[in-house]
Amino acid sequence: MFALDLTGRAAIVTAGSRGIGAASAVALARAGCDVCVNYRADAAAAEAVAGAVRAEGRRALVVQADVADSAAVTAMVSQAQETFGRLDIIVSNAGAGTKVPMHEIADEEYRRVFDINVKGFVALARAALPAMRAAKSGRIIAISSVVGRSGKAFMSPSPTYAGAKAALIGYVRGLAREVGGLGITVNAVCPGWVDWGSKHAAAPAEVRASALSQIPLGRTGTAEDIANAVVFLASDQASYLTGVSLDVNGGLYMA
Ligand SMILES: NC(=O)c1ccc[n+]([C@@H]2O[C@H](COP(=O)([O-])OP(=O)(O)OC[C@H]3O[C@@H](n4cnc5c(N)ncnc54)[C@H](OP(=O)(O)O)[C@@H]3O)[C@@H](O)[C@H]2O)c1
Repeated sequence: MFALDLTGRAAIVTAGSRGIGAASAVALARAGCDVCVNYRADAAAAEAVAGAVRAEGRRALVVQADVADSAAVTAMVSQAQETFGRLDIIVSNAGAGTKVPMHEIADEEYRRVFDINVKGFVALARAALPAMRAAKSGRIIAISSVVGRSGKAFMSPSPTYAGAKAALIGYVRGLAREVGGLGITVNAVCPGWVDWGSKHAAAPAEVRASALSQIPLGRTGTAEDIANAVVFLASDQASYLTGVSLDVNGGLYMA
């Protein structure tokens, strides 16, 4: 049987307490990984995800940290390395959007969106890279968005969110070039419309119908659809992919 095998490796997933992050943490564990589950607000949800990781026979560590706080991210990376004895994979999944149009965006709102989406990625990669460089191996995965590719969002047209998610893609390409010679790959996953739990449940029927009409595969995505891409990019089978922005969107946007 062909399987993506991450046995013995260790990962950090930011915003791992729900949605795409939770599904990624569990999928990585199922593939053999120990997982540090980061959360910001919901400790009980993060503990539940850690329980699911342990149910797969892997070690789990739960760490509260605001990814916009670089010192907290650095401390989390150290804690994960001490607990697991290594760090092979980071998934920068924490994200935040805004519905504020460009002509009204305040500096504080711009900074909030960029701090969580972009600075959070920078802080995580910067803290993880020394160990990855020493090991000459590593997987860095950023969760961007179709919006960072197309500039279009169904429910919240927001150039600031699009700009932050596009910035991630730029970082991925630049960093992929910087560390490619060290056996470290750097890739982005760009989800389309991903329904999980109550996410998007309140979307107006006409918005949902319009979205579905533009998705050739005829359905919205699941958190597991994105987690599958994360596990693939983390695997040895993806060792020749770097600097890629992997569109996981049912065909909604084709580059
Ligand atoms: N769902 C979609 O349709 C979709 C589509 C494209 C891209 N994405 C991207 O995929 C990622 C996950 O999305 P999702 O839909 O699963 O979750 P989500 O509902 O967008 O929630 C965002 C997650 O990020 C966490 N977070 C926010 N600020 C944080 C901070 N400062 N530090 C640490 N964690 C923080 C939140 O935790 P708290 O609640 O504790 O703050 C929450 O777990 C995001 O980057 C999102 O932009 C999602």
